[in-house]
Amino acid sequence: MSNHEIIIVNGLKKFFGEVKAVNGISFSVQQGEVFGLLGPNGAGKTTTIKLLLGLLEPNEGEMSVFGMNPERDEVEIKRRIGYVSEEPLIFKSLTPKDLFNFIASIRRLDEEKTTALAKEYLESLDAEEYYDQLIATLSHGNKQKLQIIAAILHEPDLLILDEPIAGLDAKSVRVVKSILELHTQRGGSVLFSTHIMEIAQDLCDRIGIINKGKMVGIGTMEQLRQQSNKVGASLEDVFLRLTEQDTSVNEIVRKLRESFKTRNLQGN
Ligand SMILES: Nc1ncnc2c1ncn2[C@@H]1O[C@H](COP(=O)(O)OP(=O)(O)OP(=O)(O)O)[C@@H](O)[C@H]1O
Ligand SMILES: [Mg+2]
Repeated sequence: MSNHEIIIVNGLKKFFGEVKAVNGISFSVQQGEVFGLLGPNGAGKTTTIKLLLGLLEPNEGEMSVFGMNPERDEVEIKRRIGYVSEEPLIFKSLTPKDLFNFIASIRRLDEEKTTALAKEYLESLDAEEYYDQLIATLSHGNKQKLQIIAAILHEPDLLILDEPIAGLDAKSVRVVKSILELHTQRGGSVLFSTHIMEIAQDLCDRIGIINKGKMVGIGTMEQLRQQSNKVGASLEDVFLRLTEQDTSVNEIVRKLRESFKTRNLQGN
């Protein structure tokens, strides 16, 4: 792995009125690295990702992707990125076949090669039977697979994935993990957000933990354990400590236990 920085974020801020969605975040992603963003709901992960894609304008701070500025060089950056958004796929009135042909045309890819590659990915994710079926009629997980395939068809240098794994079955998770590993082995990089601790621990070279718009921990699993003073702890424990939720979660469970004691199921 080289030490070339693909993404640099420095003191980034994004406010929505009073809400400080991103409040001074700094991190970098190296070439060949899988970097995971973790954080409670509303922590600022998606906002950070959208800023990097030039979809939102920051209030303050610097960003660079491939040495370019997302605000100025949005088109050139997007050419080299594959993005899976948090929201479901919007092309519901298309079939996967139409979708992949559309991608081939807007990205100026060879249609025949793109079709062959798309079919290879569909097959590896057990979804080839839906090739000619309207996307609107597919299950949540199968739509998610299409979104992942759509993001990787043009062989992008950098994958930015906003919770790509949620909703996928176990076998598909395994396949997607392999795709990401193969991508980094040939020098590609990945920035992704997830709530699934196991995936993060398994897949990430480094993890950044965001809480209330701030980066509260960053590094390898071992570095995060040191930062949270939790020797040998699981990522979940480290995460709860760094996001200051470890005591509150215990208190919440204690209160729930007391409350459950006072009530019975209808049948009892
Ligand atoms: N367009 C918007 N207008 C106003 N507030 C917004 C907007 N987008 C995000 N926010 C707020 O910014 C904060 C960060 O949201 P964001 O979507 O980045 O969180 P997240 O870490 O991705 O959460 P989740 O895990 O639920 O996806 C939240 O308080 C959210 O309500
Ligand atoms: Mg989000």
